Amino acid sequence: MDTQAILLSIEALKMCRDTGISPSSALYFAFKRKRYTTRELRMARKILHIYSIYRRSASIYLDKILPDTTLDWMSKTLLELLASCILGRMNLGDISTLVSRLRQSMGKNWPEQSERFLGLLRYMYSRPRREVNYPDWFVKYLEKIIGKVEAEHYMDFQDNVKPPIYCSLNTLRMDKENILKIAEEKNVILKEDSRLPGIYIVETSSTKDLKTLMNQGLIVVHDFSSYYAVKVLEPRLEDIILDVCSAPGTKTWLTTLEMRNNGIIFSIDSSWKRIRSQRKRMTFLNAKIVKLIQADATKSLPIRIEADKVLVDPPCSSTGLIWREPYYRWMIRPRHIRMFANLQSNILWSSSRNVKKGGYLVYSTCSITVEENEYVIEDFLKTHPDFELVEPSIDVGSTGLRGLVEARRLYPHSNMCNGFFIALLKRRY
Ligand SMILES: C[S@@+](CC[C@H](N)C(=O)[O-])C[C@H]1O[C@@H](n2cnc3c(N)ncnc32)[C@H](O)[C@@H]1O
Repeated sequence: MDTQAILLSIEALKMCRDTGISPSSALYFAFKRKRYTTRELRMARKILHIYSIYRRSASIYLDKILPDTTLDWMSKTLLELLASCILGRMNLGDISTLVSRLRQSMGKNWPEQSERFLGLLRYMYSRPRREVNYPDWFVKYLEKIIGKVEAEHYMDFQDNVKPPIYCSLNTLRMDKENILKIAEEKNVILKEDSRLPGIYIVETSSTKDLKTLMNQGLIVVHDFSSYYAVKVLEPRLEDIILDVCSAPGTKTWLTTLEMRNNGIIFSIDSSWKRIRSQRKRMTFLNAKIVKLIQADATKSLPIRIEADKVLVDPPCSSTGLIWREPYYRWMIRPRHIRMFANLQSNILWSSSRNVKKGGYLVYSTCSITVEENEYVIEDFLKTHPDFELVEPSIDVGSTGLRGLVEARRLYPHSNMCNGFFIALLKRRY
């Protein structure tokens, strides 16, 4: 095991603790601050991924073998990190050699308190034991909405199966055949997903080759659920589309792709910074029909828009993203769910004013909670009799909860994508 990668991981975790930023951002900053190699960065990313999954098991395990021991943060973190690596079956090599290298590299920062417990890690190799690696509230929540057996499968799946990489071909730049040819020349093997033509699974590729195609603007990597959202929206060539909460613009771009740069898309986001980066991205991807507007979508928009279709993809608690971002399970709190549900309702109510009669409103989130999804839709329908919930023409996933059979839910373990909710509403009059 690379000692520098362990040190980089610890530095990132320290930064997370001190600043509250996510481990992936912290890792990036820690990497920039000192001279680590990209190989060490890659390895540290893997270590933090494993740590995010097994941190709880590691902590419970250490509490059992070290009852009544109070350790300082650094010692506890180092022990938990190494224990997580063992539980995640990462090869640490010989523990004594690793410890002496770490001691040497850390010098005066070496966490003395951990010293006498490090030997115990050797014992873990022979008796790895995994606990439930999720916060209690999340386990209970999941069991409540999908049942105990399914919840267990869901959590186990997320921690043991690698998420696929999906992408779309940027036919706004080059035709499909040529992009596929260039991909093949680079040994990037793409297989069209039989569930939805137009989305590809990256079957084999080196990260470098995949990045080259992305940097050339020939492919865009995104989740299956983003593509499904746009398929449910069903944009037509001459449509006026309003995309609310649009940045960084993945669904805007996918919509442009469907419309082949015809019609018009108004993209609204409240963040100037994100609007600016979406603008750059749209130019880079050759999306020419996008008008970007900075505005708070809980209020009336600065311009009057009567759209054929409105897509509302508001910020959410991200409970559906834990497969790709395992650390989120420790960052999301029940209070975030309540907070987002409120904001989502406000954004949906406000945006519905921009749907023309006979037009459609699509509401989606990458959260699996009922509060941010079914409740929001139920509340909306109670007060908006001019809207009705309708079935999407492309059927993927399972039906919504609480009897909302026209809505769709996607789950990692059954749909191989982010946890996701989507509802299609039609304005009748
Ligand atoms: C889930 S992300 C959207 C992802 C985007 N639809 C895509 O496909 O790339 C949520 C976005 O909502 C924006 N947002 C948050 N509050 C908002 C508000 N009150 N009005 C408009 N946008 C808001 C955030 O800046 C963020 O970019």
